[in-house]
This record gives sequence, structure tokens and C-alpha cells, in this order.
Amino acid sequence: MTNNRKDDHIRHALAYQSPYNSFDDVELIHCSLPDYDLAEIDLSTHFAGHDFAYPFYINAMTGGSEKARIINEKLAQIAETCGILLVTGSYSAALNNPSDASFKLKKENSDLLLATNIGLDKPYQAGLQALEALQPIFLQVHVNVMQELLMPEGERQFSHWKNHLAEYVKNIPVPIVLKEVGFGMDVKTIQQAYDLGIKTVDISGRGGTSFAYIENQRSQRRHYLDQWGQSTVQALLNAHDLSDKVELLASGGIRHPLDMIKALVLGAKGVGLSRPILELVETKDVAEVIEIIQQWQDDLKRIMCALNCRTIEDLKTVNYLLYGKLASANPN
Ligand code: FNR
Repeated sequence: MTNNRKDDHIRHALAYQSPYNSFDDVELIHCSLPDYDLAEIDLSTHFAGHDFAYPFYINAMTGGSEKARIINEKLAQIAETCGILLVTGSYSAALNNPSDASFKLKKENSDLLLATNIGLDKPYQAGLQALEALQPIFLQVHVNVMQELLMPEGERQFSHWKNHLAEYVKNIPVPIVLKEVGFGMDVKTIQQAYDLGIKTVDISGRGGTSFAYIENQRSQRRHYLDQWGQSTVQALLNAHDLSDKVELLASGGIRHPLDMIKALVLGAKGVGLSRPILELVETKDVAEVIEIIQQWQDDLKRIMCALNCRTIEDLKTVNYLLYGKLASANPN
């Protein structure tokens, strides 16, 4: 362990390769005679009260250390140049240090689309502090029960979390996104959150970063729990019937534009990536990462054209096949 938990997370997240990614068990039915030209394809979407030019974003990662400051500054530069949203890591790292440089991301006159993140273990006042410091377009509130339970210094009390959520809804003046951290949000939680007034959830499922693995590496224990939770595709399939009343966002194991499109076909309105972008900024310079992300933006259009979809909404009509574990768990 280093003396900074956030730096441990970065190190272990980069070292981990999930043994299973549910997107590999999804195949999209393409169209050999499309209605649209490539130039007609529109990637724009809308969620959490905001219009976005692109349906993917850099999801919550880091803050609260010197390493985090360097990473966040690169992420901000990439997000602004590519016109995509950046969500910072949990603001809890800065609660006792409001001058923390790793969260000073929005420079004057910048066009950066910025959101931030806080844990539901914190009361809504912590969320208000994050809003004041960052002026985000929305606030992600994360739920990470198994991570807390596996962390030696983690939370042990959870029964007040629903009350916390109700208070966030009542007191936070920007849209709230209730977010998992890679364990896959269950339908009952989504329904309860909706009943409390939540309109957007990031189901963040298994298949990419595993916070069970990360904490088990830190404590050198309980590796039998590394694969805890539901896969991203299974979580999306489970939540499908709620998608007309709750905006679904998807993250967890999204590696490239084809995974993004699959998540959008399965009902997501937006798609978040953490580890793949972290790996890019740790191994390439900012200009190269920008080029890769701009290529992704072009590739999304190519895939949509071959699926005969002009808009992100059209993707919901695409048929697909499920294989392997997904096929056994979801018989026709
Ligand atoms: C995360 N994630 C995360 N989530 C959150 O809500 N608050 C946080 O502070 C963090 N911190 C964090 C640090 C690092 C280094 C990583 C890689 C991830 C979880 C993240 O937002 C996402 O839900 C999962 O990582 C799954 O997505 P990927 O990594 O498979 O794309």
C-alpha cells in the first residue's frame, strides 16, 4: 500500500484485467442496405438535464493527490478538446482541503463540460461543498457497498444511506446521477432511487475495473470476491423495463466504440469509461489520446451507419443476439 488510497486505486486498477467482459457475449444485427449516408449520423444525446454532442464520457476516477492532479489536468485537456464530459473522482478527497489542486480543473473561459462525484456515505452538505468548488453540470452520488466492506478503513453502517439519498434529492440544486462503481446496480435499488426522486442512474457493472479486486489487493485477502456483482450487460438487461422512466447510463468494461454502441442498443443514454482512459493517459501523450478519442467519435458514426441508425434513439431498435453466460441467464 502507498500512503495514499487514491494512488493505490490507480495502480491496482491498471494492473487488473477482468476475466470476463459481457459485451463479448452480445452480437448486433447489422443492415446490408442502410437508409443513411455517413454524414447524416447524429451522435448527440441528452441526460441529467443536459445536451451532449457525444454519447460517451470520462467517468469518475481520481482527485486528492499530486498524481491525481497530473491525471485530472490531462483528462480535462482531453475532454475539452474532444467536447466530451469529464466527471472527477470523489470530491471526498478534498472535503478537508478545499484548496486541493487536483480539483481545480475549470480554467477561465474554458468550455470544459464538468461533473463531479461524492459517496452516499457522506451527507448532502458534502455534495453542496463539491458544487460550490466545481460548479458541475450534475453530481454523481456513488454507492459502493462491497468496496466499503472490503476496505479495512471502510464504512460499516449502511442503513442510513436511503435517508442520505432522500436528502440529496431535496437539497442538491443540480441533477443527481446515482452511480455504482463496477458492481452493477440492481433493479430494486433503481426503483427505490426513482421513488425517492432520482431520474438518472449509472448502473456501472462488472467487466472492467473491479473495486473488490483493488481492495483485496490492498488487504491481501478475500480474492474469492473479486468477481462480485452483475455484469454491465446483465445490469442493463435487468433495468430495461425501467428505461422509459429512468435515464440509464452504462459503464464498467467499455473498451471501445463497439462496446459503447452495444450499451446504447441495450437502453443506455450515455456511456462512461474510466480505466481505458486512465491507461491511455498513463501510456501516451495528451495529443495522441485526443487523436484516439476523435477516432472513436468517427467510428461510432461508422457503426451506427452499418446498423441503419441515424440517431442514438434509433439504436434502441437494433436487434441483437446473446451468447454464453448471457444466453443462459436470459433465455428467449
Ligand atoms: C474509479 N471509480 C470511481 N467511481 C466513483 O463513483 N467515484 C470514484 O472516486 C471512483 N474512483 C475510481 C478510481 C479509479 C482509478 C478507477 C479506475 C475507477 C469507478 C469508475 O467510475 C467506474 O464505475 C468503474 O471503474 C467501472 O468502469 P471501467 O473502469 O471498467 O471503465
